Amino acid sequence: MTLSAIEVNALKQAPAVDGVLPAVLARWSARAFADREVSSADLRKAFEAARWAASAYNEQPWRFLVGQRNSSTYKKIFSTLIGFNQSWAGAAPVLILGVASSKFNHNGTPNGYALYDLGAAAAAFTLQAAALGLKTHSMAGYDQAAARQAFAIPEDYQLGAVIALGYQGEPSALGDEHLRELETSPRTRKALSEFVLSAWGEAAKLG
Ligand SMILES: Cc1cc2nc3c(=O)[nH]c(=O)nc-3n(C[C@H](O)[C@H](O)[C@H](O)COP(=O)(O)O)c2cc1C
Repeated sequence: MTLSAIEVNALKQAPAVDGVLPAVLARWSARAFADREVSSADLRKAFEAARWAASAYNEQPWRFLVGQRNSSTYKKIFSTLIGFNQSWAGAAPVLILGVASSKFNHNGTPNGYALYDLGAAAAAFTLQAAALGLKTHSMAGYDQAAARQAFAIPEDYQLGAVIALGYQGEPSALGDEHLRELETSPRTRKALSEFVLSAWGEAAKLG
């Protein structure tokens, strides 16, 4: 039996840890999206959060190509997705492609932190979206060369991920059993001791 959207949302929340931001606990990557548009005001707020992310030399190397349903931008992004992602992401009302300038504007030298900065902006975007009751889903499964060509993205911009944005939908609307299973299975994470270190291979003591 497929769970309802409300049941899935409850199942996907991170276990509450006192003092952790509610949006961090609430964010998870949905594949079932509702047939409901995202308001321009909310879209603006999510990009506002991205705007205030930190970046090397405050270069803000990120650029976001944002496609709302039925727009040519949306269609172009959708057309570059791999088949698996196309099988669910077409229900999302907004598709976004994040790219980053790989050269510093101030002196033309390579910016080795461009994707780091884009990721920080994307993280702020997704958390703001979660705070607004929206769902996001990042995707690396798309054809970068096709996306570069479709948007005539200059060579000195690196491509990041595509983000699907919208409201959570009923898992029962997903096209196949595998997708429904993914949508309704619990989220897992490494323990802090596996990635917070005091020396290489040695867990930091956080108390
Ligand atoms: C950079 C990146 C690329 C991803 N690519 C895909 C993808 O192509 N297709 C997909 O279904 N999920 C994709 N995901 C979603 C991850 O599988 C998901 O974030 C991860 O399993 C953790 O789940 P959570 O986001 O619900 O915490 C991607 C996530 C990130 C951050």
